[in-house]
Amino acid sequence: MLKLQIILTLVWAGLALCKQYKYNADVDGWLKVHKAPLTWLEAFMKCHLEDAVLASPSTAELRTAMLNAVEESGIDFPIYIGIKELFVYGHYTSIEGVQLEDMPVKFPSTNGTKPKECMSMTRDRAVTFNSCDQWWPYICYKKNSTQLKYNFDCGTFDPAYHYNSVTGSCYKLHKQARTWKGANKVCVAEGGHLVIINDQKEADVVVNLLKEKLPQKNDSFDLLSHTGFYNWNSDLLTFLTIHGEKMDTVYNNWYNNKNYIKGVHAFGGILGSGRLDIGTTAREAYFVCEKDPNIQLFDQQERILRKIY
Ligand SMILES: *[C@@H]1O[C@H](CO)[C@@H](O)[C@H](O)[C@H]1NC(C)=O
Ligand SMILES: *[C@@H]1O[C@H](CO)[C@@H](O)[C@H](O)[C@H]1NC(C)=O
Ligand SMILES: *[C@@H]1O[C@H](CO)[C@@H](O)[C@H](O)[C@H]1NC(C)=O
Repeated sequence: MLKLQIILTLVWAGLALCKQYKYNADVDGWLKVHKAPLTWLEAFMKCHLEDAVLASPSTAELRTAMLNAVEESGIDFPIYIGIKELFVYGHYTSIEGVQLEDMPVKFPSTNGTKPKECMSMTRDRAVTFNSCDQWWPYICYKKNSTQLKYNFDCGTFDPAYHYNSVTGSCYKLHKQARTWKGANKVCVAEGGHLVIINDQKEADVVVNLLKEKLPQKNDSFDLLSHTGFYNWNSDLLTFLTIHGEKMDTVYNNWYNNKNYIKGVHAFGGILGSGRLDIGTTAREAYFVCEKDPNIQLFDQQERILRKIY
């Protein structure tokens, strides 16, 4: 039994790797290479939503760690780095406020032309000025600190995720209203997804979480909170969860007959009554993110193993 448990744990730790931030002792922080390219601003936002920053080669150690991380990940350079001209011509600084001129990199030449606003780094350690609209891979960096306390139950540093033993998932209530797409983006960056309600028990968990924290209201449209299903094909009324599951295989208790919204982009939600309903693209609401507790977002394997045995 113990053997099986060890094997399962190792498999589990292996599965988690693809999503993971990897610790680097030289920089006392975690790096995560994002292979899928984004524009500079989207890359900045992605790292921000992951509670990290778009990495910059502000020290020799960070520069080396970044170059190694890219080599290991097997992607091609250049990558975006977290340096941008901020409000003042010629004032290039990292997100953390370190000026480009103070970094251990060769200041790039532009041979008389106006440099672009964003910056990238190439394999030969050179940084260059880049348009912010190009699409490049990038690295997010999270600095370690004494304040950080790892949430082992949910596999993240975010203390707002709570494990629920009834459903076996972790949940976080977001009290900043966002559109359905914006909400889903936040949940994905946090290593989860908009809550997918599988059964009555989970519907109760989600409704209680919403009711506990939010002002009491009638069972009105106001209380429609985003959840993880939508109409994948608006003309054909193809309601599926964000993971592609058919609605009759998950919680499927509707407030209204859903057939009236043909041809309209419709995004899923749950009312205070626990019934499902839909909202439009622009509608903003509070929402609950769900996260698989088995996915450890930061590499902490020794500690995880130590905790289990
Ligand atoms: C710099 O600009 C000058 C004048 O436009 C050009 O002749 C020269 O080849 C350029 N040098 C480089 C390295 O691009
Ligand atoms: C992060 O910093 C704390 C406090 O300095 C330290 O105890 C901990 O070991 C560090 N984390 C890792 C993964 O080294
Ligand atoms: C709830 O609904 C009832 C009847 O529709 C109404 O009288 C009452 O004012 C509503 N309460 C709130 C807080 O909206």
